[in-house]
Amino acid sequence: MDECTVGFVGAGGVAVRHARHLSQFSNVRIVAVTDPVTAAAESFAETTGAAVVPDPEGLLNASPDAVYVCVPPHAHGPIEEQVLGAGAALFVEKPLALDAPTAERIADTARKAGVVTAVGHHWRYSPAVDLVRELLDDRPVRLVAGSWIDRVPPVPWWSRRALSGGQIVEQAVHVLDMIRLLCGDVVEVNAYANATPPGTPDADIDGATVAILQLQSGAVGTVTAACCVDWKHRAGLELHADGLSVTFREDCITARTAQGTTQRSLLPDDAKRAADRAFIDAVAGNGSARGGGLVDYEEALRTHQLACAIATSAVHNRPVKLDV
Ligand SMILES: NC(=O)c1ccc[n+]([C@@H]2O[C@H](COP(=O)([O-])OP(=O)(O)OC[C@H]3O[C@@H](n4cnc5c(N)ncnc54)[C@H](O)[C@@H]3O)[C@@H](O)[C@H]2O)c1
Repeated sequence: MDECTVGFVGAGGVAVRHARHLSQFSNVRIVAVTDPVTAAAESFAETTGAAVVPDPEGLLNASPDAVYVCVPPHAHGPIEEQVLGAGAALFVEKPLALDAPTAERIADTARKAGVVTAVGHHWRYSPAVDLVRELLDDRPVRLVAGSWIDRVPPVPWWSRRALSGGQIVEQAVHVLDMIRLLCGDVVEVNAYANATPPGTPDADIDGATVAILQLQSGAVGTVTAACCVDWKHRAGLELHADGLSVTFREDCITARTAQGTTQRSLLPDDAKRAADRAFIDAVAGNGSARGGGLVDYEEALRTHQLACAIATSAVHNRPVKLDV
């Protein structure tokens, strides 16, 4: 495929970021955009040259090769069904949906459609992943501690449970995805929430959550999340194996052994751009990107199910087992 045509559903913050990366790829043309907020669609169109269309149907009339779905968590479902029904490749931002059943239905449709899918779990595309694997050198992880302590992001839907699904599903899912990638699947979770919402107007999500994880490998873990501070305090994970501790954040990886500590800085945008590159390469028929290892919908579904299990455990005050 000489040229890959792309449409966007949703023209907010993350859509603008993807479009910025795509504009750097010579084989991509953004053809159409739709967003119920006309000003957002028009502003996006101005910088990308895309045509503003009224709805996903109008977007699919332009026959794009691929569609980026960059909408808030509550809006997932019908959009993906339409895109997959039209046979276009699908890039969808995390989280996959507010709940597990919606994402499971979309996964089923994607399986039957047989098109290229990808999900915005860009942490997986960080060079730090290979570094951690090299450092571990097949040593099993015994303990993993993931955390996301941050401010409430400046989008109006984020602190409403019915719109975002809460911090674990919406945000800490990046960290959960890395835990699955580097340590394997989680078989049981037990979570507790501090149910007092953050101080933003109309907030009803939990202000903090803690979860204990039992992994299939025998490793144990924790995930902590809070959205009650006014700064990005920490987002990442710590892994501990025999004779090795690794701290992994989007901008830095630190390894400690008996010989000392080594640190490497990372540019978070590199991983984000690599996620777009891998998707476009797959759509264009060049599956060699990252050895063909795209984070597809099926794989992201397992991470989403883990996030939903933690959210369920916190609401019902009981452990939740996962099918892995
Ligand atoms: N992977 C990442 O690093 C990353 C970063 C930021 C956001 N995200 C994810 O991307 C999603 C969007 O986040 P954002 O920051 O762009 O939010 P945003 O609020 O800035 O933008 C969302 C846009 O979607 C539009 N929208 C809402 N319902 C729609 C619908 N039914 N059809 C079409 N458009 C619709 C809104 O009008 C808005 O313009 C969220 O799920 C978020 O978690 C991922």
